[in-house]
Amino acid sequence: MNLSTKLLRLLPPEPAHQVTIRAMQWGLADWGLAGRGFAAAAHDPRLAVSLWGHQFSSPLGMAAGFDKQGQVMSPLLRLGFGFVEVGTITPEPQVGNARPRVFRAPAHRAVINRYGFNSDGHAAVLQRLRVWRARHPRAALGINLGMNKGAADPMAAYIKGIQTFEDLATYLVINLSSPNTQGLRDQQTQGLPQLIAGLKSALSRPVPLLLKVAPDLSESQIHLISDAAMTSGLDGLIVSNTTLDRPAALPPGFRAQAGGLSGAPLTQKSLAVLRQFSSCLRGAVPLIGVGGLMSGADAVDRLRAGADLLQVYTGLMYQGPRLIHDIHASILQAMTDLGVSSPQDLKEK
Ligand code: FNR
Repeated sequence: MNLSTKLLRLLPPEPAHQVTIRAMQWGLADWGLAGRGFAAAAHDPRLAVSLWGHQFSSPLGMAAGFDKQGQVMSPLLRLGFGFVEVGTITPEPQVGNARPRVFRAPAHRAVINRYGFNSDGHAAVLQRLRVWRARHPRAALGINLGMNKGAADPMAAYIKGIQTFEDLATYLVINLSSPNTQGLRDQQTQGLPQLIAGLKSALSRPVPLLLKVAPDLSESQIHLISDAAMTSGLDGLIVSNTTLDRPAALPPGFRAQAGGLSGAPLTQKSLAVLRQFSSCLRGAVPLIGVGGLMSGADAVDRLRAGADLLQVYTGLMYQGPRLIHDIHASILQAMTDLGVSSPQDLKEK
């Protein structure tokens, strides 16, 4: 853990996040990294992944929820990420749940959050992303779309998101898996083929459309989602969001918090769910592996299990940007050990 990561831990998690965003906007992350070579591994051409006709410079991306409002894409890419997913963005601005709404359990390298989609809303984020995109026409940007609390028509909210952001996105994500918006997760399985088909037909250009799923799914739900993904031509699945599980080993005060659990307690569950999706889909639908990537070894496991791309969030809170470097180094080492030339070739056959 580096010094700034340690200092940030002295603050409660939400102010620490706000300070981090502000520091990144001021260029302090670049200053902290300069000369340490952390970002260098991202430029190793062997890490490149080609997917949806786009060349990602690294398979590792920043997961949704860190840059919810589209403020720090460039500093994140300079840290060494191959892509950034902004959002979740809701159509209208909303404040989200009451504070405090993020909690740490450092000894367990875990976080619980119940932000409830605090979002500046489509119009404000669109304005920021337009300015940024004009300057970075080829950078890889995922845009994660949600709905406002209590929205009567989720389909309308997602269609508006697609139409608002399709010109700017490398890929779009329909987030059906936040545990913090009532009823949202049910849509992962209810009428899914119709939902995907309807959303795909709202696109006026061929932007990859992905679905982000929860890890709390039964085997039959995984089969159902996989079948729907294949029949409706979904372009990818992001596996997974946070979990509602509360492993017994977690401290009682922390376990009692409502919200989604992320970090080390999610690693094995998220890996197992990715494996199940991978065996149902057999390469027919690309997968982004996310959930408890806390080390280079976790990243290699996820690629071996079938992920095409990877994302982290909580690992970064506890380890800082060194984790990006460690993940890149481990992927390159695994590629050498197995004699393959692309991170995607690490998949177990
Ligand atoms: C998240 N995550 C998230 N996901 C999403 O699709 N939209 C969002 O707005 C958020 N917000 C958010 C806030 C916070 C504080 C955390 C910790 C997480 C989920 C995140 O993208 C990821 O799927 C999970 O956290 C699992 O990965 P990690 O954190 O274990 O690497």
